[in-house]
Amino acid sequence: MDNLKKYSAHESAVIDPKANIGDGTKIWHFSHIMSDASIGNNCNIGQNVVVSSKVQLGNGVKIQNNVSVYTGVICEDDVFLGPSMVFTNVINPRSFIVRKEQFLETYVEKGATIGANATVICGNRIGSYALIGAGAVITKPVLPYALVVGNPAKQIGWVSKYGHRLQFNEHQIATCPESGEQYKLTKNGVTPV
Ligand SMILES: CC(C)(COP(=O)(O)OP(=O)(O)OC[C@H]1O[C@@H](n2cnc3c(N)ncnc32)[C@H](O)[C@@H]1OP(=O)(O)O)[C@@H](O)C(=O)NCCC(=O)NCCS
Repeated sequence: MDNLKKYSAHESAVIDPKANIGDGTKIWHFSHIMSDASIGNNCNIGQNVVVSSKVQLGNGVKIQNNVSVYTGVICEDDVFLGPSMVFTNVINPRSFIVRKEQFLETYVEKGATIGANATVICGNRIGSYALIGAGAVITKPVLPYALVVGNPAKQIGWVSKYGHRLQFNEHQIATCPESGEQYKLTKNGVTPV
C-alpha cells in the first residue's frame, strides 16, 4: 500500500498497488480495491464490494454489501449505494467482443442514494440528492432531488436533501419536515430556496 494507511481495511480485503484511499475510510471483509481506483476520505466500503480501476469516489461515500463499482463510474461526495445495487458499463455486451474502449460513464452527483437491488444502465447521470427506490431500473438520466421507482424507473415525486418527500404549495414551495429547508419547483426541477 502506497498511502500512509490512515484508512482501515479488514485483513481479508485486497487493496491493489496504486489504489488511492483517503483518511478515515473503512473497507470491510472480502472487498477488492483495484489499481488506480480513487476513494475519498471517511468512506465506508461494505463487505464483498469491488471498486474497479479508475473508479472515482468522493468523500463520505457509503457502499453497502455486494456492490461492484465498475470502471466508468464516478460518485461525488456523500453518495449512498444500497445493498446489491448494480452498475453496468457496456450497453451491448458480447462475450466474444472486447468493448473496454466503449465503457459509458455513469455519473452520480453529490448526496444521491441508490436503493437496494437497483440497476443503473450505463450512460445515465443521477442528479444530486436524487433518491432511487429499491429494485428500480434506471434507463434515463435522473434529475436532482427526484424520487424514482420501478422498472423502467419513473419519477413519482421529489425529495429533500434529507430524503423526505416534498409537498409543494400553491407557490410551488415545499419545506423539508426534518431540516426546515425550503425548496422551489420550477419547470427545470427543484432547487433549494
Ligand atoms: C422509494 C421509497 C423511498 C419510497 O418511500 P415512500 O415515499 O415512503 O413511498 P410509499 O411507501 O408511500 O410508496 C409510494 C408508492 O410508491 C410505491 N413504491 C414505493 N417504493 C417502491 C419501490 N422501491 N419500487 C416500486 N414502487 C415503489 C408504493 O407501492 C406506492 O405505490 P401506490 O401509490 O401505488 O400505493 C422507498 O419505498 C424505497 O424503495 N426506499 C429505498 C430503501 C433501500 O433500498 N434502502 C437501502 C438501505 S437498507
